[in-house]
Amino acid sequence: MTRTPISKELYDVISPSSYRYILNQPDICEKKRPYLILIIPVTLKDTEARTAIRNTWGHESLMSRVNILKLFVIGQPAQSNPILQQHLEKESHEYGDIVQMDFVDTYQNLTIKTMMIMNWIATYCQSARYGMKIDADSFLNVPHLVNYLHAQEESSGEDYITGSVIRDGHPKRDRHNKWFLSVDLYPETSFPPYVSGAAYVFSTDLAQKISFASRFVRPIPLEDVYVGLCLRVLGVNPVYSTRFLRLRNLFEVRKLKYQRCTFAKRITVNGFKPQQLLYIWHDFQKSHFTC
Ligand SMILES: *[C@@H]1O[C@H](CO)[C@@H](O)[C@H](O)[C@H]1NC(C)=O
Repeated sequence: MTRTPISKELYDVISPSSYRYILNQPDICEKKRPYLILIIPVTLKDTEARTAIRNTWGHESLMSRVNILKLFVIGQPAQSNPILQQHLEKESHEYGDIVQMDFVDTYQNLTIKTMMIMNWIATYCQSARYGMKIDADSFLNVPHLVNYLHAQEESSGEDYITGSVIRDGHPKRDRHNKWFLSVDLYPETSFPPYVSGAAYVFSTDLAQKISFASRFVRPIPLEDVYVGLCLRVLGVNPVYSTRFLRLRNLFEVRKLKYQRCTFAKRITVNGFKPQQLLYIWHDFQKSHFTC
């Protein structure tokens, strides 16, 4: 496949040099030397979700053997909200876990956010072994993830990305579909393999490579497909994380009703409100002894 850089005009939309940091944590990885950095895209108003994550799977002292860091990545609301912004700045000061940039934070712009995440890791956190992009409404089984990554370490050197891989994706051409993609924006009739955006893990060397590849891939508003298109440029195949001949998807994207011992065998499950997350987490602590 020939690689032609996209126009400057198009690249500017996703280029990190188009945006400035409002809040940043440039030294956090140097200081804490994490094995894994969790990056959670949220918006300004998601205070409750941030609190729930800090009190559940994002809690810093969850694992004694490995350092895990988490960061929330936020843009700017379309309508400025000085009061919430002030709260956010306080929160950032108190917890030191917020990065904010000045792109407009909308659903359509999630691809920009993901590319800012890749650039942030490439710039400030190459020392971490793995990065994970995970949505705020996820449940994350941290010990299971860490064990899984430790077990993969031999085979997953560079260019490693794993999650729930979608191999037969294709663009939705119906204008009313949430994931509508016009022929102008994406003329191909199928997508290359990509990992579902709900949660995926990658070796941090990929962050810079994906950032680089984005010079050749026209922005589309589906951030996970976009990463898949960048992976195709790089010739990197995403790895499906499953057990038992694919029967058990470790990065669960379907809604699963909470059951302690079912969840103990997954790495992530998607689709929870902050209150549900707190409730599940409390019960889940017993899984260590009972499952
Ligand atoms: C996406 O972000 C850019 C840069 O901040 C902004 O100009 C544009 O209006 C945003 N698009 C949408 C659909 O929100």
